[in-house]
Amino acid sequence: MSKDGKTPKLRSRAWFDNPDNPGMTALYLERMMNFGLTLEELQKSGKPIIGIAQTGSDLSPCNRHHIDLANRIRDGIRDAGGIPIEFPVHPIQETTKRPTAALDRNLAYLGLVECLYGYMFDGVVLTTGCDKTTPAMIMGAATVDLPAIVLSGGPMLNGYYNGGLAGSGTVVWFARQELAAGRIDYDQFLEMVAASAPSVGHCNTMGTALSMNSMAEALGMALPGCAAIPGPYRERGQMAYYTGRRIVEMVHEDLRPSKILTREAFENAIVAASALGASTNCPPHVNAIARHAGVPLEVRDWDRIGYEIPLLVNCMPAGQYLGEDFHRAGGVPAVMHELLKAGKLNAGAITVTGRPIGELYADTPSSNHDVIRTYDDPMLHEAGFAVLSGNLFESAVMKTSVISPEFRQRYLENPADPEAFEGRAIVFEGPEDYHHRINDPSLKIDADCMLFIRGVGPVGYPGAAEVVNMLPPDALVRQGITMLPCIGDGRQSGTSGSPSILNASPESAVGGGLALLQTGDRVRIDLNKRSANILISDEEFARRKAAWRPPELVSQTPWQELHRRTVGQLQDGGCLDFAVSYQRIDQTHGVP
Ligand code: FES
Ligand code: MG
Repeated sequence: MSKDGKTPKLRSRAWFDNPDNPGMTALYLERMMNFGLTLEELQKSGKPIIGIAQTGSDLSPCNRHHIDLANRIRDGIRDAGGIPIEFPVHPIQETTKRPTAALDRNLAYLGLVECLYGYMFDGVVLTTGCDKTTPAMIMGAATVDLPAIVLSGGPMLNGYYNGGLAGSGTVVWFARQELAAGRIDYDQFLEMVAASAPSVGHCNTMGTALSMNSMAEALGMALPGCAAIPGPYRERGQMAYYTGRRIVEMVHEDLRPSKILTREAFENAIVAASALGASTNCPPHVNAIARHAGVPLEVRDWDRIGYEIPLLVNCMPAGQYLGEDFHRAGGVPAVMHELLKAGKLNAGAITVTGRPIGELYADTPSSNHDVIRTYDDPMLHEAGFAVLSGNLFESAVMKTSVISPEFRQRYLENPADPEAFEGRAIVFEGPEDYHHRINDPSLKIDADCMLFIRGVGPVGYPGAAEVVNMLPPDALVRQGITMLPCIGDGRQSGTSGSPSILNASPESAVGGGLALLQTGDRVRIDLNKRSANILISDEEFARRKAAWRPPELVSQTPWQELHRRTVGQLQDGGCLDFAVSYQRIDQTHGVP
């Protein structure tokens, strides 16, 4: 505690104001002064040192405008009496990184933990945007438990093609069908896809980026309204300024992630995810944050707590609008308002504002009920994630808010067997195998088939590829069958409207039931019973299990190998399991 009895002693004093070790203090000071910072600022003023964890770069276009926004964050920090220090975070770009950006979430997490622990920060602004940048940053802040606040970069502006809305990612699935059906050529395909990206910002659909930034806000880690302001809007710069101001106050209030990331906050996030029609990547990312925060949360909690919640947000892929419309209609505060009014949230959960959500969202209704519906007049009832299990896997997730009327009619409305369907399994060993063989006539794929993909989990791919939503063979697409049930141990893009059954855990590479499936097997899915089973005898299952040998996995980089050795399953957040034991680590570096 400081002399005024309120402000906690700043940990940065261990670097810049430690009379017990003048030699080291001088070293710490001289190099930080060499670019113009003064002794007055660093030592005598006693001002908190605030990190700006910069995720933007030319490699990360979704977050690139954070380079400019950082100026407004700095202004806010300065005006509130702090010293800003910006530092780079390992880049993660969803659209560009091979083999998959998911491999880098845990790497960026590790890097952030090292920066926050090993340098002189009293608090940090976490710049977020593209899918994995948000969980990576909050996971790191949870581990070190330093006062932290999220600044989202915001979605791109609405994209338009031929006068209609073109949403990130979602347009790709549609354009692929058009290309497969021969209605457009490759140039038109490219033009359609590029139309969805008209400005700076991340994906403008309710994909993983907007979902996870909304999760950050619902968890209480960002200022109200932060998630959905489009990247180019003036309010984005203003939000950056207020976020910079607020983090300095949070340091003085000693408001740390451990006070915000409580079980109540995670339950709120799950409820919000259903109402948002959020990405299937939310369960693993949010569960990973919970594990690093030391809060018990299971994949089944998503079904238990979230399944009954209705879909309120009319955004692609579950609905028709985009991030700009979502922001204008009130964004996350309007959704939280509806959920709060319906008694579905833990009203006492504290946010970075220091205030409970019950106060924050008491009067933040939607201004456009076509985009954000009221709780009593939703887009869809019971729109949360269903979590399935059986001999194929311990758990897998299905996003029920994107089950189309066509899919429902074909698979779920058989009066003799409602909510259940069977099919003949077609099994692919990863995306390369799928691309080689999907149009192979000898597979005789028809409307009775289910497409399986395996070897694409956190160990298998490595990182877990977004490939489970597979397009049927071109011949079926031309007949109008644009969707078959898809099941796999990988993930799918949050921008996909496919009701795939995914994130299957344990994955096939570590011997999950999916590894024992053979093309031609009958498989039965029962949504009422939440079950998914290969229809073979227990003896046959045991025989296959005994005969199974783990695949030989070849890593191309050292990090791939290290990741494979230490990563857990998607149902547990796909964390580096050993890292989870490092919680609220001692940050004082021995200086009392
Ligand atoms: Fe970065 Fe979608 S690719 S947010
Ligand atoms: Mg993605």
